Amino acid sequence: MFRIQECLEWGQLATFVPNKKLPVYNWFYYKEGFSRDLVLELIRMFNIKEEQTVLDPFCGVGTTLLASQESGINSIGFDVQPVSVFVSKTKTDRYDLNELKCWSKKLFSEKFEKPDISCQPPLVKKAFKKETLEDAVFFRNKIMFIPSEKTRNFLMLALMNSAVKASYIYKDGAVIKIRKKPVPPLRKFFQRTVNKMLRDLKNFQRKESKTFVDFGDARKLRIENESIDAVITSPPYLNKIEYSKVYEIEQKLFLDLFQEKPALRSYIGIDTDINEINRNLLEYSDSLPETLPPEAKPYFLDLIQVTKELYRICKKGAKLGIVTGNGCFPHTVVDSDIILCKIAKKTGFKVKKLLVLNKRWCTRDRTKKVGITRESLLLWEK
Ligand SMILES: C[S@@+](CC[C@H](N)C(=O)[O-])C[C@H]1O[C@@H](n2cnc3c(N)ncnc32)[C@H](O)[C@@H]1O
Repeated sequence: MFRIQECLEWGQLATFVPNKKLPVYNWFYYKEGFSRDLVLELIRMFNIKEEQTVLDPFCGVGTTLLASQESGINSIGFDVQPVSVFVSKTKTDRYDLNELKCWSKKLFSEKFEKPDISCQPPLVKKAFKKETLEDAVFFRNKIMFIPSEKTRNFLMLALMNSAVKASYIYKDGAVIKIRKKPVPPLRKFFQRTVNKMLRDLKNFQRKESKTFVDFGDARKLRIENESIDAVITSPPYLNKIEYSKVYEIEQKLFLDLFQEKPALRSYIGIDTDINEINRNLLEYSDSLPETLPPEAKPYFLDLIQVTKELYRICKKGAKLGIVTGNGCFPHTVVDSDIILCKIAKKTGFKVKKLLVLNKRWCTRDRTKKVGITRESLLLWEK
């Protein structure tokens, strides 16, 4: 039906780990991200040219967009999560270094005045030492009134990043845990982060290209028919993360006050009316296994909608690279990679190959092995 091939040597490329050492890419740690090298591999494999446009409809922290900028390719990114849109925008903007330096100097010369932190939400209060939270709120209040949006975003991202590192927050999958530990003083740490980000900007080479980032739902893209040359993306994995929960503290403390929030549902796969879901899935019933757990159905319904949208906006001959992971349930493994390829075929795409990048055990109660889950790269063409 289509070729399945192991390519385990690319396993790490499906993760954010290689980005941790890369300037600009590492301005915000995003566990759910993939690597710049995977995007560069796909740009090369798809032979994407400088005047062409790449889309990432689930852009996360902008890895596809940044790698496109480095390659001189135009790119469009959408995400439903405000933190992602903010980080992607800030990483892909082009800055006036002198203006940034001037404002950071001004910021660090401001005299500290203790802010009122009593109105902070309980989760935020628990996540920081009192002095750290006071510092964070003090700097945030100063940054909020910087007139230039770009400068404001740049400094706010530096502050957000430093504050999380100087907090008690520990992200364990979809859950935020609070672990008390010794933390570095925020002011010094923040200053170091700003200096590092300024150095990164000096060393990071972006070629001439257009980049567009905005809030948007991948199931209903604001893009013209047949206008996209390539798609490089990774949708949320089945039964994985409720993204808005994981980044709740960053959102509440640094973004809520000055960022407009979209009225979008921030998750793929949370519909509840099972009868309606079953009716809507009928058209694709031969792409879905009979053993599919009911809780997985809304997820595939949403991804059918996304696949149809991708088909609508892709030019004929467009290439798509999609990273996905299989679902682990107490009694079964759901092969999302194979199901998505079947959905793509039914929608009209040619499925060129399914490359298996990682294999892991799916376990129940941490010990009983249910089966093997794959993380795969799906290669399609319109
Ligand atoms: C696996 S992550 C993508 C990470 C990205 N490849 C990177 O390297 O940063 C999936 C992203 O999809 C976003 N998302 C979830 N539902 C969405 C929807 N309906 N439309 C657009 N984005 C959505 C999440 O907020 C998350 O950022």
